[in-house]
Amino acid sequence: MNKKSILVTGGAGFIGSHLVRHFVKKYQDKYYIINLDKLTYAGNLENLKDIENYDNYKFIKGDIKDIELVNTIFEKYNIHSVIHLAAESHVDRSIENPLEFVTTNIIGTLTLLNAAKKHWKNDDDNVFYHVSTDEVYGSLGETGKFLETTSYDPRSPYSASKASSDHFVRAYSHTFGLNTMISNCSNNYGPYQFPEKLIPLIINNIVNNKTLPVYGDGKNIRDWLYVEDHVKAIDQILHKGKYNETYNIGGDNEWMNIEIVHKLCDTVDEKLGRSPGTSRKLITFVKDRPGHDRRYAIDSAKLKSEIGWLPETDFATGLEKTVDWYLNSQDWLENVTSGEYLNYYKKQYEQ
Ligand code: NAD
Ligand code: TYD
Repeated sequence: MNKKSILVTGGAGFIGSHLVRHFVKKYQDKYYIINLDKLTYAGNLENLKDIENYDNYKFIKGDIKDIELVNTIFEKYNIHSVIHLAAESHVDRSIENPLEFVTTNIIGTLTLLNAAKKHWKNDDDNVFYHVSTDEVYGSLGETGKFLETTSYDPRSPYSASKASSDHFVRAYSHTFGLNTMISNCSNNYGPYQFPEKLIPLIINNIVNNKTLPVYGDGKNIRDWLYVEDHVKAIDQILHKGKYNETYNIGGDNEWMNIEIVHKLCDTVDEKLGRSPGTSRKLITFVKDRPGHDRRYAIDSAKLKSEIGWLPETDFATGLEKTVDWYLNSQDWLENVTSGEYLNYYKKQYEQ
């Protein structure tokens, strides 16, 4: 059987590596997965060690903004569909350096859309799938949830860049007839997440007896989803979803940041044999993030009713798996935090 080539961008990052692993293993006879990743500070080939020798997998180091490279990949591998994840993904970094987010997240997405528009002429089942975020919808008060019809109201440079790239994806489907799909997902957690994000940062600091920085009053709320449930949703939307539609993905799993930090302190203390309460003493309330969104919550009723997706991993199980993975992956942690991240950490937390 002739395998169809899927171009995955950002496949060496957190969600991308889980997605690549899932697709390479599940669809060995169906898809040839090409992973295009620049390997920024957030991308790491260690994340994909277990599948790097599969016949239906190929890694290409490169930038999604490189027009020549992207066109060559479309031609050489006869790209059938794109699952686009490559992005600058961290809100705090977007506050420090918004331009980087504009170039990668907007210009990079446009470069890929242009290549798809150029190469997909006669085939009507090509799909450009954009993996996006619930942060495009802005911030909620104490009640309500984001629906697919909620107006965009991005408030950070990161979410503004993702909103813009979503708009370009829709514009290309409307103007040029490209088949597109967009999913907007809530906060993910799980193994291989870069330790600048809340959950791995807190676990890593607990292990190293460093202060645990909680922004503002710690009562901001996020809706957490185990990363493998996100990947399964993308798989199901790609195969069962409708072209040019948007699907919200979320875990119905809202927690205040401080509640999560408490859970992590208690879980790690127990696993490391520290006496109860030890790590909670490390909690430090620090200056709030500028423009900090108060609450995110996703309504995924459309995804559940139209596609039949349901999250499989409850928070207690997912958090325990995540803690275990980080406790057993100290080499990975040292590796990914040893370079540029040290300067970032000092600037962000120690000044
Ligand atoms: P990540 O930062 O862990 O990984 C991003 C990957 O993109 C890295 O491997 C990096 O090397 C690569 N990359 C960055 N710039 C590139 C470029 N110019 N060319 C090629 N590759 C480049 O991010 P993540 O958390 O895995 O998020 C993946 C996608 O999912 C992003 O588009 C993000 O907006 C979206 N998303 C993330 C979450 C979340 O909670 N993490 C939730 C919803 C949506
Ligand atoms: P983060 O993991 O950066 O995801 P996002 O900002 O995209 O939701 O942050 C999750 C929440 O945790 C957010 O409300 C900010 C907060 N936070 C802290 O309190 N301390 C930290 O050191 C970090 C990184 C985040």
